[in-house]
Amino acid sequence: MAEKCFKYVILGGGVAAGYAAREFAKQGVKPGELAVISKEAVAPYERPALSKAYLFPEGAARLPGFHVCVGSGGERLLPEWYTDKGIALILSTEIVKADLASKTLISAAGETFKYHILIIATGSTVIRLTDFGVQGADAKNISYLREIDDADKLIEAIKAKKNGKAVIVGGGYIGLELGAVMKINNFDVSMVYPEPWCMPRLFTSGIAAFYESYYENKGIKIIKGTVAVGFTADANGEVKEVKLKDGRVLEADIVVVGVGGRPLTVLFKGQVEEEKGGIKTDGFFKTSVPDVYAVGDVATFPMKLYNEMRRVEHVDHARKSAEQAVKAIYASQQGNSIDEYDYLPYFYSRSFDLSWQFYGDNVGDTVLFGDNNPTSPKPKFGSYWIKDGKVVGAFLENGTPEENKAIAKVARVQPLAESLDILAKEGLTFACKI
Ligand code: FDA
Ligand code: NAD
Repeated sequence: MAEKCFKYVILGGGVAAGYAAREFAKQGVKPGELAVISKEAVAPYERPALSKAYLFPEGAARLPGFHVCVGSGGERLLPEWYTDKGIALILSTEIVKADLASKTLISAAGETFKYHILIIATGSTVIRLTDFGVQGADAKNISYLREIDDADKLIEAIKAKKNGKAVIVGGGYIGLELGAVMKINNFDVSMVYPEPWCMPRLFTSGIAAFYESYYENKGIKIIKGTVAVGFTADANGEVKEVKLKDGRVLEADIVVVGVGGRPLTVLFKGQVEEEKGGIKTDGFFKTSVPDVYAVGDVATFPMKLYNEMRRVEHVDHARKSAEQAVKAIYASQQGNSIDEYDYLPYFYSRSFDLSWQFYGDNVGDTVLFGDNNPTSPKPKFGSYWIKDGKVVGAFLENGTPEENKAIAKVARVQPLAESLDILAKEGLTFACKI
């Protein structure tokens, strides 16, 4: 098979890949210079839609509606956009071997791709219950959600098991977003997670109490402090029951599992420096190997604000890291320099009528403020994190765009907090003054 050569190759066709392609076009990439290689069959899209509007029973989001870069209010890059720019969009192509020394990638079908500069944007894969040998975890209708094919399979199952029972395993992002969307699809929903409250890697017990009550008021059953240890299936191999460690057994027509992600670095093991589970980069997303960059979920980069190496599995960073890497590539070719990446962590989620945003770092003492009564018609509440007397993180449910901007500013500026009591009393007013 003939080999194909490109000046630039982006490996991966997700969020970071799409935003990187747009930045290449802005920087004046010439026809034939750039290829995007993806194992997905569709052009880069805004992945967050998959756990939200894509699964709605009515008015569902569908491609081409949510190709990048609509999620950040930008131009929607349809497949024709890549053709017009002379960018090779090589889809349904999984790279199974990468040799960074000879600058060669090989696909599952045996094609060879050569590059001068590589951007690794392979994202994450899901952790599966079969990885820990959970008994019966390979039954049909046990679903995971990462790519559009997974979402399409889940939609088929939702149609086949109309008004049935859904068990959600995991109380993180996928758990909370899928619990809501399965309820909206009129399933009888139970959620199971091992921790004392949902989303413990971000939420305080006070924040979680609001979401758990809100979900319970919608009719969702929440089972905490235990895990799924086995599944039984019917004669067709379809999941029927979930066995919990505490001895309970739940009936299930569909199980959705969200027990975490794992960055896809396996192709590069032993060839590039790694740190904290990701590919180590500098503030320009350059790896330890010349001409190789890593962006999005796979990159462990210097978080300047906290003077620490971190990896971030959220869409805002995927977009911004991709743009930073491409700007850095062009600047270095022109003998210029750009500023180091100076990222302020920003995470968000939406479910039912709820919508929250978080900025900064969730370390130190916390205060809760506002109306966190889950039965209020429009609850609006938040939390601050205070470390060494400074406010370093802020969370807000149901903020207006201006209020969200205000909490982002607080997390960036890190103002001094006089006392936790005053902060709790002032609440959002504190942020709006900064
Ligand atoms: P991403 O996963 O987007 O892309 C990786 C791409 O590489 C995929 O196309 C994959 O197929 C391809 N690939 C991997 N290995 C390959 C190989 N060997 N050969 C070829 N192609 C390969 N974040 C947030 O802030 N708010 C939100 O609401 C959500 N919602 C959300 C919902 C769901 C369902 C998921 C799974 C994730 C989110 N996220 C999120 C997280 C966010 O989507 C995530 O951080 C970004 O998509 C990361 O972008 P990347 O480009 O790094 O990976
Ligand atoms: P997560 O890390 O957010 O949550 C995993 C949850 O599963 C945790 O509560 C964990 O303790 C629990 N868990 C672990 N083992 C378990 C077990 N055996 N049984 C039951 N629960 C168990 O991961 P996720 O929700 O799977 O999300 C996957 C990826 O997708 C992450 O990178 C996440 O950032 C991303 N994502 C982000 C968003 C968003 O930002 N709004 C939305 C969806 C997905």
